[in-house]
Amino acid sequence: MSKTVLIKIKRQENPGATPRWEEFELTWKPGMNVISAMMEIAANPVTRAGQPTTPIAYDSNCLEEVCGSCAMLINGRARMACSALVDKLEQPITLEPFKKFPVVRDLQVDRSVIFENLKRVKAWIPVDGTYDLGPGPRTQPTDQEEEYPLSRCISCCCCMEACPQFNESTGFVGAATIGQVRLFNLHPTGKALKHERLQALMGDGGIQECGFAQNCVEICPKDIPLTKAIADTGGEVMKQAMKDFFRG
Ligand code: SF4
Ligand code: SF4
Ligand code: FES
Repeated sequence: MSKTVLIKIKRQENPGATPRWEEFELTWKPGMNVISAMMEIAANPVTRAGQPTTPIAYDSNCLEEVCGSCAMLINGRARMACSALVDKLEQPITLEPFKKFPVVRDLQVDRSVIFENLKRVKAWIPVDGTYDLGPGPRTQPTDQEEEYPLSRCISCCCCMEACPQFNESTGFVGAATIGQVRLFNLHPTGKALKHERLQALMGDGGIQECGFAQNCVEICPKDIPLTKAIADTGGEVMKQAMKDFFRG
């Protein structure tokens, strides 16, 4: 008898619909991951009981943990479906959409809050591309070493889903956004907006909402040193707030 894989998926037809669970049973294949299992289910949407159902909806693109779109709760833990190997998961494998983001359909959620937060802190390098600026300023190797891990963020939102402080009552921007503030404030050209970025992290929803529970650093699929970035940025925000205060 061939080996099978049992998968339970939380289905929700639209943002206002009541969720329900459906079970699927697939034939096991070597190297199977959650995305390849979902592709099979979407192509042949028949439940374990033999009932035809609607194709499941989920986001994915790169299939190699780069685009950040396939994040979901797999056996209750926030992670990327494309790097979750079926053989390493307990069965039945449960797949649910993130709980802290609005559900669009099935496993798809609206993650636009992270992009709004990145806009809020101006997470970009300000350059005027209308004329030749010549070579940019040099970056110190020590800064590069700190910048590279931060630049690996894929905006998956796993850190925000796992963070006890990321909720509607705090409006906390979350660890990923703070990591990007650190990254762009280290960059020799990015520094031009350092003051504005630090100011954007002051007050409600800012860096002081972080309770330093460290769930973010534990869950990040790209091993980004988030708690160090939060501590370093927290110190900079404090210094900036003092300077602003004394300048009146
Ligand atoms: S350290 Fe804790 S409270 Fe702060 S961002 Fe990470 S998970 Fe959230
Ligand atoms: S910091 Fe890590 S967990 Fe958070 S969005 Fe970036 S890659 Fe995802
Ligand atoms: S499909 Fe791009 S990160 Fe998983």
